[in-house]
Amino acid sequence: MKPIQMVDLTSQYARIQAEMDKAVLEVIRSGKYINGDAVQAFAAELSQQVGANYAIPCANGTDALQIALMALDLQPGDEVIVPAFNYVASAEAVALLKLKPVLVDVNPQTFNVDVDKIADAISPKTKAIIPVHLFGQSADMEPILKIANENGLFVVEDNAQSIGSIYSFSDGEQKQTGTIGDIGTLSFFPTKNLGCYGDGGAMLTNNETLAKKLKIIAAHGQSKKYTHELLGCNSRLDTLQAAILKVKLPYLESYSMARQKVAAQYNEGLKTLTNLLETPCHIPNSTHVYNQYTLKIKHNRRDDLQKYLKEKGVPTMVYYPLSLQQQPAFCHCGLDRQSPIIRIGSDLSETEQLCQSVLSLPMHTELDEEQIRYIIEQIMKYE
Ligand SMILES: Cc1ncc(COP(=O)(O)O)c(C=O)c1O
Repeated sequence: MKPIQMVDLTSQYARIQAEMDKAVLEVIRSGKYINGDAVQAFAAELSQQVGANYAIPCANGTDALQIALMALDLQPGDEVIVPAFNYVASAEAVALLKLKPVLVDVNPQTFNVDVDKIADAISPKTKAIIPVHLFGQSADMEPILKIANENGLFVVEDNAQSIGSIYSFSDGEQKQTGTIGDIGTLSFFPTKNLGCYGDGGAMLTNNETLAKKLKIIAAHGQSKKYTHELLGCNSRLDTLQAAILKVKLPYLESYSMARQKVAAQYNEGLKTLTNLLETPCHIPNSTHVYNQYTLKIKHNRRDDLQKYLKEKGVPTMVYYPLSLQQQPAFCHCGLDRQSPIIRIGSDLSETEQLCQSVLSLPMHTELDEEQIRYIIEQIMKYE
């Protein structure tokens, strides 16, 4: 059996090597390393594939969030709702702009923001919500849009982990995550479902005015050469990364299917272990593209199981061991209503509980039957 890895990027590359090498060499030979043809070509194909009017490439998924917030003309002290069980990037981008992240608990079944707790977290200063589509599944966008509309809030979807996931509205309309709110952000970090060979990101929108602004902000606020209309930043997707992504984009659907197949095998193999764990919940109104396959381990056995699996050659990860309000960067100023950098918008007990119980199994496009069987067997033996 091949050694098991959390992700296996080199085997994935090997399957498209000829095509990839050709695309990469073309860029190197062109000498157009910045803003080469592949950048716009990839952006056009991406917007087409996800169903957004505009896709604006940038340097990474964190910049995408920051630029998205910059485009909304928020004022220092304005509040932005973010889920507490989350990667740091959204709250970080908010806080860096001197806006205040307001942390809201998540639904422990879906790991996504608990819609029922958003309304109480809104104050007169609240201007935006960042739903994060965590681990591959959409946040419940229909009620989120309703709350946003009722309160005049912008919606910026952090879609770093769920590209290609499809959300269904109650009237049957379907949209891909990242194209539902005002702006959607993407990360092409190598381990993402669509990953490049370095850093990369993009912003999606259907709004022409916002699209122009996002593009300008990502390019030093420059509207025409050496005219800087806005304060911006330098956030470019390299031509090389764009060329790599252009090769991989047509495979995204098959990559999602490969992940779904692994998840189905895990679900089946682990379904009887209800005393030990809960397999991930898949909600009916979203497809799941399994950027992560995350279990909840019961009875405080998570750390022990993780140690045992490591000894058996099965790597696992804890996404995330600390909730955002427990991060030193956010809690050093205190967490009461006067805190200049963060506000607790709801009880966060579900988030804190998840940080103690979640465990992500190896999940990637290259896991084979033998490896999956082995992983399941080891967990069965532990029980
Ligand atoms: C939910 C989420 N948002 C944002 C990001 C940031 O993306 P990047 O690493 O490309 O800056 C990540 C990356 O891990 C993420 O998982």
